[in-house]
Amino acid sequence: MPVDIVIGAQWGDEGKGRITDLMAAKADVVARYSGGDNAGHTVTIGEAIFKLHLIPSGIIHPGVICLIGNGVVLNPQVLLREMDGLAARGVDVSPARLKISRSAHLITPAHIALDKADEALRGGDAIGTTQRGIGPAYRDKTGRVGLRASLLADPEALADAVHAHVVEKNRVLTQLYGQPALDAAQVAAGFAAYARRLAPHLTDGAQLLDEALRGGQKVLAEGAQGTLLDLDHGTYPFVTSSYPTAGGALVGLGIGPRVIGRIVGVAKAFTSRVGSGPFPSELAGEMALRLRGTGENPWDEYGTTTGRPRRVGWLDIVILRHALRVNSLTELALTKLDILSGLPEIPVCVAYELDGARVTYFPSDLAQLGRARPVYETLPGWEQDITGMRHKRALPANARRYIEFVADMTGTPVSMVSVGPDRQQVIIEA
Ligand code: IMP
Repeated sequence: MPVDIVIGAQWGDEGKGRITDLMAAKADVVARYSGGDNAGHTVTIGEAIFKLHLIPSGIIHPGVICLIGNGVVLNPQVLLREMDGLAARGVDVSPARLKISRSAHLITPAHIALDKADEALRGGDAIGTTQRGIGPAYRDKTGRVGLRASLLADPEALADAVHAHVVEKNRVLTQLYGQPALDAAQVAAGFAAYARRLAPHLTDGAQLLDEALRGGQKVLAEGAQGTLLDLDHGTYPFVTSSYPTAGGALVGLGIGPRVIGRIVGVAKAFTSRVGSGPFPSELAGEMALRLRGTGENPWDEYGTTTGRPRRVGWLDIVILRHALRVNSLTELALTKLDILSGLPEIPVCVAYELDGARVTYFPSDLAQLGRARPVYETLPGWEQDITGMRHKRALPANARRYIEFVADMTGTPVSMVSVGPDRQQVIIEA
């Protein structure tokens, strides 16, 4: 089948960028289908580290066409900064390679100001958003007052639309939130300038994919965030405002389910989460520091977009089973297995104890999830440094056992395992 999907199986930050980069080597088109620059995808090639927020991770492969799909919300200023950064490093981001769906929606400074004002108003109940304007931009989209990327084709018309948008949002910002007004004329002029640069990148995304598929090309759909941040299937309201799940790939790109082949769920060998909300297998103290890292290394558990320390905990099989069901995953890619090396034993959450009963499903009710206590099975650890290992048979027996345990408990093959940040540090067909 010609469309494969890469999906986060946890709360985001699973390492989707590096798995996308790996699979992009065999793709003709790589398409982002949801979210915006709240995402932070890291691809490491030797000494070179690429941190991408909006541009699909396939861009590092020459010849791959990259599409920002209709399901994405796009801050043009951030996109241009990212394009300039890549171009300065010799990556081709010309309109021939980087395409923007006309039906994607634009994020403006007014959306960002509203995101911040919303969070401030929530006080202790704040979601912990990335403050990139994601929620307010999707709110405008579903409210049918959003600014579509198609407006980038006409700088003057865009400037008028953005001006009217900022004037309207200023009323909300000043009168409801008591925040300062934005300079509508200045914001509008900025957008006209962005339009002049970005207009040549516009395309009909769904048509581009249709033509690619009819031509026998291979398409890779790149998810952002993760299953538990999905607006419907995540830990609502502590979620993002889009659909990172497999269904989101179909809607966010304009393709049907019959063209889908592999659906790869990317999961860290432990669990992490940024922002608020319940997290049954969360750790505190020394062990949390051990899993999170100090922040000295780029792969330590600090947000790529916000720099916030991530909350960390043991691997949670209940979450993986939920991701499996919601997305029809065909396989799992397990990342950061090397971080567990050196631990004498490794607990894995296999069920929850909820109100005196043992449950193996992920509660959709947030209050129930908050009461769920992890039930652990403890596996023996391994001492050896595994970062140089490239075959499953080279791994210590207990590392193999850990991988097989995940596969058995989820009933899903683990097709890839990463043992370090570099492109090379992946065991395929694990
Ligand atoms: P928003 O997407 O900025 O509205 O943030 C909503 C929630 O999703 C917050 O808990 C964020 O921390 C989380 N979130 C958004 N994007 C990412 C991501 O790429 N990785 C991890 N968490 C994310």
